[in-house]
Amino acid sequence: MSRAPAVRARELVRSFEQAGGTLRALAGVSLTVEAGEFVSIMGPSGSGKSTLLYCLGCLDRPTAGTIELGGEAVEALDDRSLSALRNRRIGFVFQSFNLLPTSTLADNVGLPMVYAGLSRALRRERAALLLEAVGLGKRLDDYPTQLSGGQAQRVAIARALANGPAVLLADEPTGNLDSHTGREVMRLFGELNRLGLTILMVTHDPQIARHSRRIVRVMDGAILEDVPVLDPIREEGSEESKRLRELVSHFGSGGPAA
Ligand SMILES: Nc1ncnc2c1ncn2[C@@H]1O[C@H](COP(=O)(O)OP(=O)(O)OP(=O)(O)O)[C@@H](O)[C@H]1O
Ligand SMILES: [Mg+2]
Repeated sequence: MSRAPAVRARELVRSFEQAGGTLRALAGVSLTVEAGEFVSIMGPSGSGKSTLLYCLGCLDRPTAGTIELGGEAVEALDDRSLSALRNRRIGFVFQSFNLLPTSTLADNVGLPMVYAGLSRALRRERAALLLEAVGLGKRLDDYPTQLSGGQAQRVAIARALANGPAVLLADEPTGNLDSHTGREVMRLFGELNRLGLTILMVTHDPQIARHSRRIVRVMDGAILEDVPVLDPIREEGSEESKRLRELVSHFGSGGPAA
């Protein structure tokens, strides 16, 4: 039997009521992403990219249409089950990192593990491994304000990996980074994808999109084009990514809490 797709959306509609009437941010999007794919979502500002990502990641509910994550239909789930599914299966990375400024790096990375019910000691142990894997193993007790943009994004990626997700969703993960730092983040994404993580990433940057294998172009809330990347970039794995590999094989999916 073949594995269920990581993500399957059918006829997604997301409407917003506005003063001037109804705005259809998504106007019927159907998309299947197989387990292990690395997909870029591109399109002009306001075309619905973030809305699509948030619906697929269960941070937002579509007005109509269906979503399956790893074969599991999400419509039927109440808010609590939906949060649990999201926490277990999905890691999110945002353009502006979204780290808690008054929490240490270890506590930031450990936060999703709180919801997964891990003990404080285990959270710290695992956060230490994750931070080490993204090259910040010596900064556990530092604060986000002490970091460069690239370092902050690596902490956010470590946090996204906290519960061993199957899917990584990233909304312009390199949007606030210079091109060199952006490439470092893509190297990390590439390595994670080779380790089996399914990645969906919104980007405006064609160079960044070349790190993925497939580009979905969105316009006015609909898919305009869905094409393979013809000239993909494959970065060599770094020392850090070796650590990452050990880590992922060590945790497996779901991690030691399971
Ligand atoms: N919470 C909301 N309330 C009302 N309208 C919204 C909301 N979220 C998004 N929209 C509208 O939906 C449309 C799509 O927004 P979305 O954020 O998905 O675009 P985007 O493609 O991510 O754009 P950008 O590249 O600028 O991030 C826009 O017209 C936006 O104004
Ligand atoms: Mg957006």
